[in-house]
Amino acid sequence: MKRVTISKILKKKNKTPIISLTAYSKNIAEIADNYCDIILVGDSLGMVLYGMKSTREVKIETMLLHAKAVKNHTKKSLIVFDMPYKTYTSKSIAYKNAKKIMKITNCDAVKLEGGKKITGIIKHLTKKKIPVMGHIGLLPQTSINFKVKGKNSIQKEKIFKDAIAISKSGVFAIIIECVVEDLAKKITKTVTVPTIGIGASKSCDGQILVTDDILGLSDLRPKFVKRYTNLKTLIEKSIKNYSRDVKMRRFPSNKNIYR
Ligand code: KIV
Repeated sequence: MKRVTISKILKKKNKTPIISLTAYSKNIAEIADNYCDIILVGDSLGMVLYGMKSTREVKIETMLLHAKAVKNHTKKSLIVFDMPYKTYTSKSIAYKNAKKIMKITNCDAVKLEGGKKITGIIKHLTKKKIPVMGHIGLLPQTSINFKVKGKNSIQKEKIFKDAIAISKSGVFAIIIECVVEDLAKKITKTVTVPTIGIGASKSCDGQILVTDDILGLSDLRPKFVKRYTNLKTLIEKSIKNYSRDVKMRRFPSNKNIYR
């Protein structure tokens, strides 16, 4: 099976919705790979897997083995490594870190949060042949409040200008997080690269969500998340039953022992 290429992602604009999810482990990546165009090894891993208070605590080293597992156990999806907070503060720091990430994990692209301010870094990485995915709107690494963006004209104009700036700098796709629908629509109509929304309406060219959120494994429940199952309850029930079986000496049964 051939891996999705950046040019295939670009061709999907205005044609077919881009399907994307996060994955941090082999088990989830293998399943997501059957259905996704893009899998993001998000820095959300810090909060989701390690219980950190914010994504700002995440280090590259924490993500490397996760990304390697995701890349090694997928065949089809484009794998994007989310560069953590303060790992792309200048062109040279960004390149040094991105080069190391690509070499160790063999991921297909990196993702950076930010607009106009990081265009120089985006241009530098793409010139050095490191594909970059952008991320605008609500930026978890630097936002001081986690509210919907683009509700007033000042915010709207800033986010719109950010989208234009990064699309002109060479990103191959833009994640738009938590913005009002009319703004997401305007950005999607204007930029030439695909937009991928998370809480940014169906006007985007694709969608992304944190997999643990759709599976009901996390406690976070923003309005934009649709929960497809409640794995937490299923896991709780299974562990409770196992614990009861061991206590009552019902496990292991004859079926589970060697003679
Ligand atoms: O880290 C992450 O999972 C992300 C998505 C929410 C887009 O950046």
